[in-house]
Amino acid sequence: MAILIIMPGRDSSALQQHLRKLAPGLDIRAWPEQGDPDEIRCAVTWNHPHGLLREFNNLTLIHSFGAGVDHLLQDNALPVDIPICRVVDPGLASQMCQYLQCIILNRRFAMQTYWQQQQEMLWQAAERVPGNSVGILGLGKLGEAVARSLVENGFTVHCWSRTEKQVNGIISHTGTHGLEQLAASADYLVCLLPLTAETRGILNRDLFLKMKPSAYLINVGRGGHLLEEDLVQALNSGQLSGACLDVTASEPLPASDPLWTAKNITITPHISSLSDPLVVAEQVLANYQRRLSGRPVENAVNRDLGY
Ligand code: GLV
Repeated sequence: MAILIIMPGRDSSALQQHLRKLAPGLDIRAWPEQGDPDEIRCAVTWNHPHGLLREFNNLTLIHSFGAGVDHLLQDNALPVDIPICRVVDPGLASQMCQYLQCIILNRRFAMQTYWQQQQEMLWQAAERVPGNSVGILGLGKLGEAVARSLVENGFTVHCWSRTEKQVNGIISHTGTHGLEQLAASADYLVCLLPLTAETRGILNRDLFLKMKPSAYLINVGRGGHLLEEDLVQALNSGQLSGACLDVTASEPLPASDPLWTAKNITITPHISSLSDPLVVAEQVLANYQRRLSGRPVENAVNRDLGY
């Protein structure tokens, strides 16, 4: 009976250490050193090679290393009838709140101008960037935490989600019309959606045309939410005033990609909210124990909804 960690290109040593410390005696393996495939009972994954999980005949649990599970559900050969769990951690939510406040406030205070001016030792006040309305696409655990934190900081917050949500102080929208209303009102548009067939490409030219030219786009969802060529065009033509991307279709973003040099763009390397290996280890072990003792798992993913 073994737990196999499958995270190609990503250091899993901290996760291995925590799992071994929390459950001494448990067989913890890291792909590609998987050993006998029939001994694998649980797989912890991040961007696993598609088709691989099919090799494990005795698998009882598939656990994402992060909050997102699109990397799992995009595998057409994913074993059926095995629960998939994701990480739900207030720590992830609080990192996301801090990241978004940082990006929004840096823009409001024109920090980029000051970083440039400092190169020239120039002491000169820049105008504050007006606009107090934030539109959030996606009102899951992260979206709700972000929405609440922005309301507490005096922002007007609109949210768009698949079903109507009642959250104090937040204006809820659904459907195509709701999306257009939110886009038109937003000074900052934040994408925090799960990536599903319905949300792929949602950040596109048509949506940008509904937005104010002064609006600023922030994508912390997935690269697949954005039609990147449309954004480059919108930024370079002044259709949108700026954007921040923490996720891109290709990660790492290739040096030749036109996103790097688009006007008023900030790019960060998928760091807005990082999984804590200790929390992941605790949640994996708890769910693994639940599976072994026949109890329902926590933070299970609905495969039909895609999150
Ligand atoms: C990060 O992108 C995550 O899904 O946890």
